[in-house]
Amino acid sequence: MATHNLFMLPGDGIGPEVIGQVRRVLDWFKESGIATFNVDEGLVGGCAYDAHGAAISDADMDKAMAADAVLFGAVGGPKWDGVDYDVRPEAGLLRLRKDLGLFANLRPAICYPALADASSLKREVVEGLDILIVRELTGGVYFGEPKQITDIGNGQKRAVDTQVYDTYEIERIVRVACELARTRNKKVSSAEKRNVMKSGVLWNEVATRIAAEEYPDLEFEHVLADNCAMQLVRNPKQYDVLVTDNLFGDVLSDIAAMLTGSLGMLPSASLGAPDEKTGVRKALYEPVHGSAPDIAGQGLANPIAMIASFGMCLRYSFNMGEAADMVDQAIANVLAKGLRTGDIMQDGMTEVGTEQMGDALIEELGALAS
Ligand code: IPM
Ligand code: MG
Repeated sequence: MATHNLFMLPGDGIGPEVIGQVRRVLDWFKESGIATFNVDEGLVGGCAYDAHGAAISDADMDKAMAADAVLFGAVGGPKWDGVDYDVRPEAGLLRLRKDLGLFANLRPAICYPALADASSLKREVVEGLDILIVRELTGGVYFGEPKQITDIGNGQKRAVDTQVYDTYEIERIVRVACELARTRNKKVSSAEKRNVMKSGVLWNEVATRIAAEEYPDLEFEHVLADNCAMQLVRNPKQYDVLVTDNLFGDVLSDIAAMLTGSLGMLPSASLGAPDEKTGVRKALYEPVHGSAPDIAGQGLANPIAMIASFGMCLRYSFNMGEAADMVDQAIANVLAKGLRTGDIMQDGMTEVGTEQMGDALIEELGALAS
């Protein structure tokens, strides 16, 4: 039985509660003789700040570097609203992304049939939706320099963020999107703002070349990012794989999340380049939802996005596609049986807490395995 090294960073708010359910799933995999996992745990976000005065310690960064995969819960909360910008909880996540070189962020948005009515859009618009947003994650305005606020006199300040992309950054993210499209419906849509941004002009140019030279078998289209936001709400099923930069990807993936009924449903994978010798990619898996301080510690959080993120870890880091399919199927079955956490609760369904949702998922896994 293979053993994999996992480094867990539960973080703040509901992070520890949803990671707790992943631990139970790990135990189930071990008991079923499918795989074992060595688990180490560290601090990130506000809890790391409280302990070390930084959003993640160097020691935990080293552990994240050395692990086969990192599972990340969520960071932040009102308690840390006033801390310095450099050590704010989100800085821990951004350091992990940057230092691990996790440039490719995969955010699938799948509308489970059982949840089509939980979306704020009409059932026919979202039912059967299955799109994959591929967001560039280590470049653009998130990390571009200069990034500063300066005093320019007369009581005025000037804030600058820098949107910057080099050719290679666009090439590699477009390739990731195209490779994934080959395993899906062979269609890629690339979103930028070439009508106002130089980085959009270059993005468009590079994406066009990569698609034409390396992926002539795919349908490749360009869409302006604002139009894309509108289209996602109007007719999301026109998309299959959507590739875009860091900031547009942040915004578009929140829209896509809501199409599925709840932010509590969306997993994500952040992948680095394959190692030249081993072919292994550094990877971090996290739910798209945040730390939800309003419900933290009450056993109410929806663990599905976290568990689905672990499913992506099985698929992309451990090459355990069948086990990943089982996790996805267990989620669909539990929803079809009418179990709902508060965030996706609907009339006539059974409202459960975090732990009960975990129970039900593990029971389903057992049924699927036998
Ligand atoms: C996300 C989040 C992060 C981001 C925050 C927490 C820094 O919104 O992963 O989408 O902006 O990337
Ligand atoms: Mg976001």
